[in-house]
Amino acid sequence: HLISSTSMLQAAREQGFAVTAFNVHTLEMLQAVVDAAQELQAPLILQTTVGTVKHLGPEYIVAAAQVAAKQASIPIALHLDHCTDYDLLVACIRAGYTSVMIDASMHPYDENVARTKEVVKVAKAAGVNIEAELGKVGGVEDDIVVEDEDAKLAVPQECVSFVEATGVPTLAPAIGTAHGIYKGEPNIAFGRLEEIARLVSVPLVLHGGSGIPEEQVKRCVKLGMAKMNVATELRIAFSNAIKAVFDANPEENDPRKYMVPAKQAVKALAMDKIRMAGCDGKA
Ligand code: 13P
Ligand code: ZN
Ligand code: NA
Repeated sequence: HLISSTSMLQAAREQGFAVTAFNVHTLEMLQAVVDAAQELQAPLILQTTVGTVKHLGPEYIVAAAQVAAKQASIPIALHLDHCTDYDLLVACIRAGYTSVMIDASMHPYDENVARTKEVVKVAKAAGVNIEAELGKVGGVEDDIVVEDEDAKLAVPQECVSFVEATGVPTLAPAIGTAHGIYKGEPNIAFGRLEEIARLVSVPLVLHGGSGIPEEQVKRCVKLGMAKMNVATELRIAFSNAIKAVFDANPEENDPRKYMVPAKQAVKALAMDKIRMAGCDGKA
């Protein structure tokens, strides 16, 4: 069965690795990341955006994730990524999600606290993990668009008071990474991360995992990032593999002919990210 990600992430923080959390949009993407994690004996977080929940319906997603959890020998959690809508979040918990992110980072601090608190109350009662964000992660993720000049680093003292006030078990502090592929290299505030990690003991979440160079991922993980989200690079790998099939054979009409290479591409990329996060062998 699907498990809550709370204990998985606490173990990761204690042991100095990060659990990789992959955004999936189709059954094939879900299967590919499960195969990758199973092969490397890594605990896994499957996650979907709000857009994907609306596209597929939470019941289909939960059913597929439950089959994965039943067949695989690794621990698997199912997480709702960047949700701003309380009702949708509750619907996902009801459907069987075992972790949810309430993203109220676009609101002032006090309102972020209030909205997060409300979610912590219902999710904790259901045995479901909660993630919240402080500061603002830049870039584009589903319908959430944050321009570079509006991206904002988390404030260490606010991280302390936020965790205390909300009881949130996992925190995503913005440290300069962004959703999507970087123009050049990300400008990560490692000193800021170090300070946050010194002040709060809950597992920290690294957003914007696509495009971060390996040694910077490793530095973040060493400093306390216990979950790494990867979305854009998986979509690119999946889509490019399909494009290559149609480039070679524009008349192709057997979905298996393009889905099989797409799955292989996603699996290979997921295995790279699992190793980068030090999550292999941790199941
Ligand atoms: P990327 O699209 O940069 O991998 O970011 C993923 C993410 O943070 C999802 O919440
Ligand atoms: Zn994110
Ligand atoms: Na990114």
